[in-house]
Amino acid sequence: MLPRKEILNIKPYIPGEPIESLKRRLRIKNVIKLASNENALGPSPKAVEAMKRALNGVNRYPDGDCFYLKKKLSARLKVAPKNLIFGCGSDELIVLCARAFVNKGDEVVIARPTFLIYELVSRIAGAKLKIIPLKDFRYDLKAMKEAITSKTRLVFIANPDNPNGTYVNRQEVDEFMRGLRRDVIVFFDEAYYELVEKRDFPNTMKYLNNYNVIIARTFSKAYGLSGLRIGYGIARPEIIDYMNRVREPFNVNSLAQVAALAALDDKKHLLCTRRVLREGKRYLYKNLEELDLPYVESVTNFVLIKVGPRAKEIYQKLLKKGVIVREMSAWGMKDFIRVTIGTMAENRKFIRALKQIL
Ligand SMILES: Cc1ncc(COP(=O)(O)O)c(C=O)c1O
Repeated sequence: MLPRKEILNIKPYIPGEPIESLKRRLRIKNVIKLASNENALGPSPKAVEAMKRALNGVNRYPDGDCFYLKKKLSARLKVAPKNLIFGCGSDELIVLCARAFVNKGDEVVIARPTFLIYELVSRIAGAKLKIIPLKDFRYDLKAMKEAITSKTRLVFIANPDNPNGTYVNRQEVDEFMRGLRRDVIVFFDEAYYELVEKRDFPNTMKYLNNYNVIIARTFSKAYGLSGLRIGYGIARPEIIDYMNRVREPFNVNSLAQVAALAALDDKKHLLCTRRVLREGKRYLYKNLEELDLPYVESVTNFVLIKVGPRAKEIYQKLLKKGVIVREMSAWGMKDFIRVTIGTMAENRKFIRALKQIL
């Protein structure tokens, strides 16, 4: 076997364990999953109805251009359709960006710990990584800017960040962008954008015309469509054109397209999702404080909790009680677990289980 040498030291990404897998493995009936930052409310009912109507058409290939979705979203975002590209999850946009723009030996600036896919795709491309540690669980944009050299091709900024749940504000992003070399691509990963309720959250769309920015968003989180795999990127048409050249022709399936289109109109579902998150976070914070467990305040749908050196054992014991959370050793955060906000019943089950284990 002769794989490319760039991939020899890459460890495959390990996702949160699926509910059915835990049920099979431990032979338990009642399992809840708070491990992958999914929407606890489920998908928008409008999206489900739209998919039902589209089922009989799946003998046809999907529209590789996502025409209707592009039209709707471009009106919503006040950009042209040629500013948009769709992906099999926003994950794919990260992949397409690296595939289109990163040459072997180019430098890519990323933070750590952050979303793991940036490092993965950059390593696959043979890039040289410049890794900037977070400061107090937040992106250190000043240090990331200082790390940019003439060889830097790409900078990844998760905003809000996963697994920390923190964000960088308008002023920090403005300072980062000011005077930035125009040949550097800044990838703003805004997977949790619709869930953020902060007045000073940056509007990255304003950089669209004058900088090489790619803004990625997704239907997996706020819209509850993770299983369909659909996300989108916003950028200058030239950037979109290059990404389209390395995209598979039918990367977004037809059910995902109709579901996303319908979900965009379901304002009620989105408002309900935000309310569930607000209530869930309030409940979790209160209980974590009572348990004396430090946590990172989150603007998204998950919370990073410092449970101490027993983290792995606590994770395993939670599994036995039918609660799947995220174990953090892949991020080098051995004292932590990450918990997605669930329904109130799920949040209570998690806290009850945690109390029994501690
Ligand atoms: C920061 C961030 N970006 C991107 C993604 C990918 O989401 P998807 O590929 O489902 O759109 C996630 C998923 O957890 C994420 O946390």
